[in-house]
Amino acid sequence: MITKEEVLDALKGVQDPELNKNLVELGMIKGIEIAGDAVKITVALTMAGCPLKSKIKSNVEAAVRTIEGVGHIEVVLGVMTSEERARLFGRAPSEMEGVKNVKCIIAVGSGKGGVGKTTVTVNLAVALKNQGARVGILDADMHGPDIPIMLGVDERPLGSGGMLLPVEKYGIKMMSAGSLAGEGVPIIWRGPMVNKAIKEFLGHVNWGELDYLLIDLPPGTGDAAITVANSIPLNGIVMVTTPQKVALEDVRRAIGLFRAKDIKILGIVENMSFFKLPGGEDSEVVDIFGSGGGEKLARAFKLPLLGKIPIDPAIRKGGDEGRPKALEAESEAGLAFAGIAGRILSECGC
Ligand SMILES: Nc1ncnc2c1ncn2[C@@H]1O[C@H](COP(=O)(O)OP(=O)(O)O)[C@@H](O)[C@H]1O
Ligand SMILES: [Mg+2]
Repeated sequence: MITKEEVLDALKGVQDPELNKNLVELGMIKGIEIAGDAVKITVALTMAGCPLKSKIKSNVEAAVRTIEGVGHIEVVLGVMTSEERARLFGRAPSEMEGVKNVKCIIAVGSGKGGVGKTTVTVNLAVALKNQGARVGILDADMHGPDIPIMLGVDERPLGSGGMLLPVEKYGIKMMSAGSLAGEGVPIIWRGPMVNKAIKEFLGHVNWGELDYLLIDLPPGTGDAAITVANSIPLNGIVMVTTPQKVALEDVRRAIGLFRAKDIKILGIVENMSFFKLPGGEDSEVVDIFGSGGGEKLARAFKLPLLGKIPIDPAIRKGGDEGRPKALEAESEAGLAFAGIAGRILSECGC
């Protein structure tokens, strides 16, 4: 006779690959039903989607298979409620109220400033939207909140029922300290205030139903980036780098630090990869910042290289004018961002 205790014991041997704790300890086992030699286990994932779904399922199966006498195994995957998720991340449910209907939260990070983190965030958001996803952007770069500029947003967010509503542009929802303060107003944050603001952005901004919420992280590996990344229940981070050695070194350090905090790196985007001289399809390509850096980095860390974005004056212009180049889905930049969005959609499946 198979007992629930035996099954629970076996499941204690299955780790959540992101959180490095076992599924029982994490409260992810929602049900165990035993009928003769058949065992049915219901597992609640922290969020729908994201790459680890099938891995968790097969690990659960393998663990239960080790119990003597087990025949048929069924693993049903569900999703934690926002309360359960909030508890897991050590916060009160009210702190996650605004993101309770968000399926995947993905941060965009970098080793340092100026590599195109914000540019990648807005264009990736547009590319995900072009492929049918419901997308929002939370600007967590409190000291350089450029998202409103790059999305061409000059409206202030409105309040409703004690919650702020994100501003919507090109079908993308966005919230930024830049929009709250108004253009040109200096924002002076002290450490704890940044954390408080991020909490507000998760708890008191009504994001509604979203497939992806992209977070533009503060640059670098300082306190700001790590604290923000740690305070948000992230599904993972996309790291942006440029190909030259100094940028790669910085992103290496950043990957190490994020990994040390159990934050999953989804892959690397190499921005400003190459420059195509004007002159059509087969014009000369110049590697302004060198080449092959992104590939090497991806290989060294066993991470996917999600895509390479060319240096393109139209990307810069799109940023300055608040019209992301990816809105032109068939442009070279549009296609490059579409490729990255496609990789994320298939990896995360949100
Ligand atoms: N692929 C690119 N081609 C041309 N200009 C780019 C590209 N990526 C970023 N830029 C420009 O470089 C500058 C810095 O980019 P930004 O996204 O603000 O970087 P970060 O957020 O990492 O500080 C901006 O003026 C932006 O328009
Ligand atoms: Mg930026």
